[in-house]
Amino acid sequence: MRHTFPMPQRASVPLHPTSPVSAPIAAPVLAIESSCDDTGCAILDADGRILGESLLSQESHAPLGGVVPEIAARAHLEALPALVDLTLERAGLQLDDIAVFAATTGPGLIGGVIVGSTYAKGLAMALNRPFMAINHIEAHVLTPRLPEPAHSPTKTGTPPSPAFPYLALLMSGGHCQCVAVEGVGRYRQLGATIDDAAGEAFDKVAKMLGLGWPGGPAVEKLAREGDPHAYDLPRPLKGRAGCDFSFSGLKTAVARQIAPYGMAPLPRQVAADLAASFQQAVADVMVDRAANALALFPEATTLVVAGGVAANTVLRTRLQDLAQAHGIGFQAPALRLCTDNAVMIGWAALEHLRQGGPAPDDLDLPPRPRWPLSECLPAPERAAEVEQQALAGGRP
Ligand code: KG4
Ligand code: ZN
Repeated sequence: MRHTFPMPQRASVPLHPTSPVSAPIAAPVLAIESSCDDTGCAILDADGRILGESLLSQESHAPLGGVVPEIAARAHLEALPALVDLTLERAGLQLDDIAVFAATTGPGLIGGVIVGSTYAKGLAMALNRPFMAINHIEAHVLTPRLPEPAHSPTKTGTPPSPAFPYLALLMSGGHCQCVAVEGVGRYRQLGATIDDAAGEAFDKVAKMLGLGWPGGPAVEKLAREGDPHAYDLPRPLKGRAGCDFSFSGLKTAVARQIAPYGMAPLPRQVAADLAASFQQAVADVMVDRAANALALFPEATTLVVAGGVAANTVLRTRLQDLAQAHGIGFQAPALRLCTDNAVMIGWAALEHLRQGGPAPDDLDLPPRPRWPLSECLPAPERAAEVEQQALAGGRP
């Protein structure tokens, strides 16, 4: 089935009110994710209920041991039309029923971001609907607030939980940072990795151990058979001030343990012990860094974990214990929503719609391979910024 475009209609909501919207917001929202190797499409109603969802994880990268950006971009392009159709079918909706289109517009692999955001912009323009440019990291950080039936029954009008302010520990394949989340569009980075991201370290160690790709789930699985105290691996930056991260030394320490085996396959028990010891070292570092971040942000009432690595059960449990010891709440997205998906993009769009989004320049925003969280302002503030820049005679 291919899309057919009905006559343009006006969206029924004001696009740039100056204060958070209390009136019903425009929905359903159709969201697209394509920033790495997962092509996702999801449709959410105004309360965040998932009406339809599709996700295609590209398998063509696995034999290559990592994501090849060019292959990923082409695969997104091939998959998107059918994926959007399938998601509409699952939601029992037509394209014309969609009130708002949203897509990851950065950060991420530029080819994929261009494909997904341009596709969503095209649909929005053809149907005369608003388009919302969503920051992928922001979506990870806000997703624990998505009312999932699993952990918080959806009731119309129930405020999303956890409430602000909270501390988000974002650990994904490309990012690792502690973020003070004071509201939608109000983020302060307290610390970040100075070399590898946590997921990247899991992936590289998995490769050294001869496991599949992506490595995180494979390392976690093998670690269940191993002894976490078998190898005395370093805990980089543990005990140091601040909440930055470093994983490259830990990765090198694992490589040093493997080196004596040369080209021979690692005995299974050695690989399992190394996987368990590595995971334990990452967990110790995460707990130490998160504890320091909580000290830097005492206003936090909840510790939130997000990003692909947050799917790791050992890390989740250790961080949950930390939150409990600090007498604050703990929240993590459902496992399937930790790794990349389009539901989180739709949810971030809804959060911004409640703040008066989309921002006036969302449609004009070029795909951004880098997009710091500090530049994800709520729509009214972004509107003021755009106006000021226009008065000054420059482009935002
Ligand atoms: O958030 P995500 O899907 O993509 C990025 O935005 O980067 O994160 C992917 C990363 C990969 O590095 C993957 O190995 C890691 O998350 N990951 C895990 C687990 N599941 C996924 N790491 C450790 N344990 C897991 N169970
Ligand atoms: Zn991600």
